[in-house]
Amino acid sequence: MTLNRRDLFVTGSGIAAALAVSDPVLAQSAWPGEAAAPQAPTTAAAGGALPNSEKRIGIVTLRDLEAEAQKVMVPYGFAFVAGGAGDEWTMRENLAAFNRWVISPNYLAGHGAADTTATILGTKLSYPVITAPMGNQGSVHAQMEAPVVKGTAMADTLFTESSASQMTLEEVAVASDGPKWFQIYLPDSRPFAAEMLHRAKASGYKAIVLTVDAFLTSNRERSVRLQGVAVPKLSRGNVPKTPGVSGDPMMVKGNLDWTDVEFCREETGLPVMVKGILSPAQALESVRRGCSAVWLSNHGGRQLDNTPSAITMLPRVAAALKGRVPIIVDGGVFRGQDVFRALALGASVVALGRPILYGSALGGAQGVHAVLQHLRNEFLMTMRLAGTPDVKSITRDHVLRVEGGAA
Ligand SMILES: Cc1cc2nc3c(=O)[nH]c(=O)nc-3n(C[C@H](O)[C@H](O)[C@H](O)COP(=O)(O)O)c2cc1C
Repeated sequence: MTLNRRDLFVTGSGIAAALAVSDPVLAQSAWPGEAAAPQAPTTAAAGGALPNSEKRIGIVTLRDLEAEAQKVMVPYGFAFVAGGAGDEWTMRENLAAFNRWVISPNYLAGHGAADTTATILGTKLSYPVITAPMGNQGSVHAQMEAPVVKGTAMADTLFTESSASQMTLEEVAVASDGPKWFQIYLPDSRPFAAEMLHRAKASGYKAIVLTVDAFLTSNRERSVRLQGVAVPKLSRGNVPKTPGVSGDPMMVKGNLDWTDVEFCREETGLPVMVKGILSPAQALESVRRGCSAVWLSNHGGRQLDNTPSAITMLPRVAAALKGRVPIIVDGGVFRGQDVFRALALGASVVALGRPILYGSALGGAQGVHAVLQHLRNEFLMTMRLAGTPDVKSITRDHVLRVEGGAA
């Protein structure tokens, strides 16, 4: 069976490994001698000091964060987070797609306040934004996943743990008392996959997110160009614990199919959703297979370049699903107006990726909190100005499609 690597570092020599997907030996070559226990990259290995700050940060707009974070992040970590696949067309398209929709405000509506709270699969959120799963957070902050887990809980919203984390899923589970989902890159080893799913359930994760668009590492050329730059030493948090079970969380099943979705549901009994849906047909099939939600995503433009943005596909998917299950959308969200437009087009919640990691690099948990707080304030402002008193009143009537809007 084919073994593949996914959302992880590509070294100059590692690109060969990334593309030679059928060769597990090559595929592992970028990960020499890693310890099983969580371990932050060392200063020397990371090519500079990893950010380790814990402080409140001031934010004018989330768009400023990338440039600010670049000043404090290690070069490899920055390229890993900021980069996309190929020409990065899809990464840019994720931004452009929002600007094909304009907001139609409903003035004189007489509402003196707006309630931003939302609910997803029974979990109440301070507003309809959750933290997207992001692996290898040990390349961003010396405390690895902890700042993002804690900052997300401080903002009263939901954290999604990636199976490609440096901390163990159990450590992440107790790092905050906020709600969490577990995102799995399904390992090739069935016993190990079952073990991870059972551990996630036992640790209190409320749902399983099966990512299907990253069963091999794509052509992330910013990382490839960093030839000669030291690669941070990142441990795998979620290694097998059961005697006799072997496997590697970075070695993903290369021939995923629909029965893998059913496997996740049957093993846990938890709500399951597929992350990486980009068509009405796949959305409908996932629901037919028992999924409780649909996660529209192109992986932040990091996997298959030239795929559409989730926002472009959202109206079609929402029309096909007819409200049967909630829809999560991600990619290119920077503004409260983006959250509003996604909801108007049929999303239940939006997942935020890179800005969260920039917040972690700049200010640890307080930085992540500040990012989520800033976005919430902008969303609240948008709701107030658009005349929508609560999230359910944000409907398709509040957006219009335009061609060739300003960039
Ligand atoms: C550094 C980084 C690591 C990521 N790792 C994962 C991962 O482990 N699992 C996953 O499903 N998606 C992963 N993603 C994709 C995000 O979950 C999300 O789909 C994407 O970042 C959303 O786009 P945005 O960054 O423009 O908000 C990663 C994204 C980034 C930026």
